[in-house]
Amino acid sequence: MKLISRYTMMLLALLVLLTTVAPVASATGTTGDSSSKKLVLGTSADFAPYEFHKVIDGKDQIVGFDIAIAKEIAADLGAELVIEDMGFDGLLPALQSGRVDMVISGMTPTDERKKSIDFSDTYYKSKQVIMIRNTDKDKYPTMAELENEKIGVQKGSIQETIGQGIPGAKLTALDKISDIVLQLQTNRVNAAIVEDTVAAGYLDDIIGLAPAIPDEEQVEAAIGIRKGNTELLTAVNGTLERLKSENKIEQMVKEASQLNADKLDKNQNIFEVFWQYKSFYATGVGYTLLLSALGVIFGVIIGLIICLFRLHDVAILRWIGTAYVEVIRGTPMLVQLMIIYYGVSLTFGINFSALQAGIMTLSINSGAYLAEIFRAGVQGVDRGQLEAARSLGMGRTAAMRFIVLPQAFKAVLPAIGNEFVTIIKESSIISVIGMVDIMYQASVVKNITYQGMNPFLIAAAIYFVLTFILSKLLGRLERKLSASDRR
Ligand code: ARG
Repeated sequence: MKLISRYTMMLLALLVLLTTVAPVASATGTTGDSSSKKLVLGTSADFAPYEFHKVIDGKDQIVGFDIAIAKEIAADLGAELVIEDMGFDGLLPALQSGRVDMVISGMTPTDERKKSIDFSDTYYKSKQVIMIRNTDKDKYPTMAELENEKIGVQKGSIQETIGQGIPGAKLTALDKISDIVLQLQTNRVNAAIVEDTVAAGYLDDIIGLAPAIPDEEQVEAAIGIRKGNTELLTAVNGTLERLKSENKIEQMVKEASQLNADKLDKNQNIFEVFWQYKSFYATGVGYTLLLSALGVIFGVIIGLIICLFRLHDVAILRWIGTAYVEVIRGTPMLVQLMIIYYGVSLTFGINFSALQAGIMTLSINSGAYLAEIFRAGVQGVDRGQLEAARSLGMGRTAAMRFIVLPQAFKAVLPAIGNEFVTIIKESSIISVIGMVDIMYQASVVKNITYQGMNPFLIAAAIYFVLTFILSKLLGRLERKLSASDRR
């Protein structure tokens, strides 16, 4: 009885912990109270001068003329603007599922997209261009030369569609424009399809424009609104009309382009990069630790339950336990994350924040591995131990608790430690849904600095330090527990 109430207390404490953590989630997510009106903007901030990251006063901020427009809309509505940064191809599902209220991301109102969302009036026009390395300047006079060529495009963009229309082209579709430029610089692709306004920010002595120009040259940008949300649509069009009549949009484009032009020193060494962006990494460490710690705690709970199931006398419970372990272990964590984050939301309308989805995925996933570790531990203890305890008059539960489990725990401690280290590293996968962990911040720093190596070396160093400290601590615990063996 006492034991049970202790576990209940522990569970309660966990619940309290989770609810106090939830507000942190809303800082990055969309959940929150309705006391002040919020307007949640979905954007893919890799598209300067439309939307991009910029360090201002030592703080990472999302700026650009799309953001300036969003601020005007929010002001007209008397709402607070909340920005959700995500991959371009995640924007439509985010809007449809209600995770965001509107999408401003240089998005072209295509017929295909109009099937699933509504669009405002257009607010900007640009042209498609082909970016190449300056050394290839004369290689691509017309689109015909791009046939069978290696071409970089942004995933989910209309440029991807254009690329698909080029006969024999080998497309590399990536999340971020900066990654595509990196691919071009490192000879992995030989051309990239982008919009002229965006290309302007990348042109330098290495990257230039080809004379070739795609057929569908004109591109427009409009604001995406969820179907049926006519109230917001009308408001958005109202604001756009006002901005156009005040000639504000051109001015915003100019200001954003200037902001993007004053680039930073590209030759910073790794220590300078670390020092300048230390606050980014610090935030990342906080979220990585939070994710991993809660992932471990819930993972252990799930693992214990599943282990009990697997060792149970009732066949159906054993079967459930086995099925859980096999299914979770047999599918990639990235797929599990997508199902929990997008699948559950689109199918059942339950929107988990990135933090909630991340913790669930990590604990569900590690629960399967931990269950196996626990089972190995229990089964590894000689049956004679249990029999001896029972013959001394101990009950089954007491024998388990005082004789078998302590030995089992000691035996599997190294394996558990391994799993904890794995969780810290694997938590980096959660960054793909916009969880601001170490990995995510490293990509942000990469996008800001245009450096491909240093931001990730720093991330690697940080992960290493974290896991190294953890394994040292676990090693110490192991020695302490094994002290009794040597006596
Ligand atoms: N205009 C293009 C499209 O709608 C590309 C937009 C990309 N936007 C971005 N924020 N990366 O597909």
